[in-house]
Amino acid sequence: MRALWPLARPLLHALDPERAHDLTLRALAALPLPAPAADDPRLAVDAFGLRFSNPIGLAAGFDKNGTIAHKAGALGFGFTEVGTLTPLAQPGNPKPRLFRLTNDKAVINRFGFNNQGHAQALALLRKGPAVLGVNVGANKDAADRVADYVAGIRAFVGIADYFTINVSSPNTPGLRDLQKPDALDELLARVLDARDAKAEMFGRRPVLLKIAPDLALADLDDIVRVARTRRIDGMIISNTTISRPPAIAAHRRGGEVGGLSGRPLFELSTQMLAATFLRVERQFPLVGVGGVDSADAAFAKLEAGATLVQLYSALVYEGPGLVDRIKRGLLDRLGTSRPADVLGRTAAGLAASL
Ligand code: FNR
Repeated sequence: MRALWPLARPLLHALDPERAHDLTLRALAALPLPAPAADDPRLAVDAFGLRFSNPIGLAAGFDKNGTIAHKAGALGFGFTEVGTLTPLAQPGNPKPRLFRLTNDKAVINRFGFNNQGHAQALALLRKGPAVLGVNVGANKDAADRVADYVAGIRAFVGIADYFTINVSSPNTPGLRDLQKPDALDELLARVLDARDAKAEMFGRRPVLLKIAPDLALADLDDIVRVARTRRIDGMIISNTTISRPPAIAAHRRGGEVGGLSGRPLFELSTQMLAATFLRVERQFPLVGVGGVDSADAAFAKLEAGATLVQLYSALVYEGPGLVDRIKRGLLDRLGTSRPADVLGRTAAGLAASL
């Protein structure tokens, strides 16, 4: 798989990006992947009552329908997050809706939660060695959006190791309004009630909240206050950005509507991670995501306050060998320390530059 990447990359990049992604998923589903090498125990992380063999996860959106969740461990990931899944299947926005900005190692997408819906995903979803997160959202035309999230908890509680409440996709109109304090409080209350109602039968599944990087700090204050009061289990920072750094704005594709991810998101998402870390005061762990494409970038997320790290866009440019390179590089950088030893040590400086 990794050896094939130098051949596969030019072929895939000659294709329309969405077609290339579909082919990649199909190849991963069809190919027998060897069992993963055991992770160095120094990379193990305990968070939300779960044990992760390493802190690197596959971010939501790569495997929306969970068709390769059982293979994420073979790709070297310590965890994988399927979704975003909505109760009913929906087609998403018209194509084209996925764009590569190759020179900038960036991606813009406006998929709009295309997915096969809960029932189909549940029928296909299988657990492998990686911890399994299920990222849930609301259908575009839902009458009661909160009820869609609650339905996600009920549908996947038997298989998910953790849940992510995604209120930060820029591609479903109005979705990010659920980050406003009153709406967020109601959403979390109902989701956590649904989770607690199933706790006796299935165990208490951790619930994480995934936020946008485009929040004013006053809004972040409110979100963290609600999250702490409701005692959620963790937060994921961040989703894609609707902002466009100058280099991207000047790009031929830079004006495409949608969420920007990859390298140009690294700085903003890491600063927001640091700002969140300071506000959370270690009440719960954070997942850092946005522009991770090297061991240096992953290490910087740990130092900014992430207990776990996710990535997606860098796979498009670096291929599947990236995960092992990051893990080896993390071990080099950590030396005799553990990830927890470096947690948040740059957060104050980074947050000050926001
Ligand atoms: C995403 N992302 C995403 N996030 C989410 O919570 N639900 C989703 O359905 C999707 N879908 C999606 C599709 C595509 C094509 C991309 C590139 C991204 C966001 C993703 O999980 C992550 O938060 C950002 O992409 C930032 O990480 P990277 O890509 O810079 O490593």
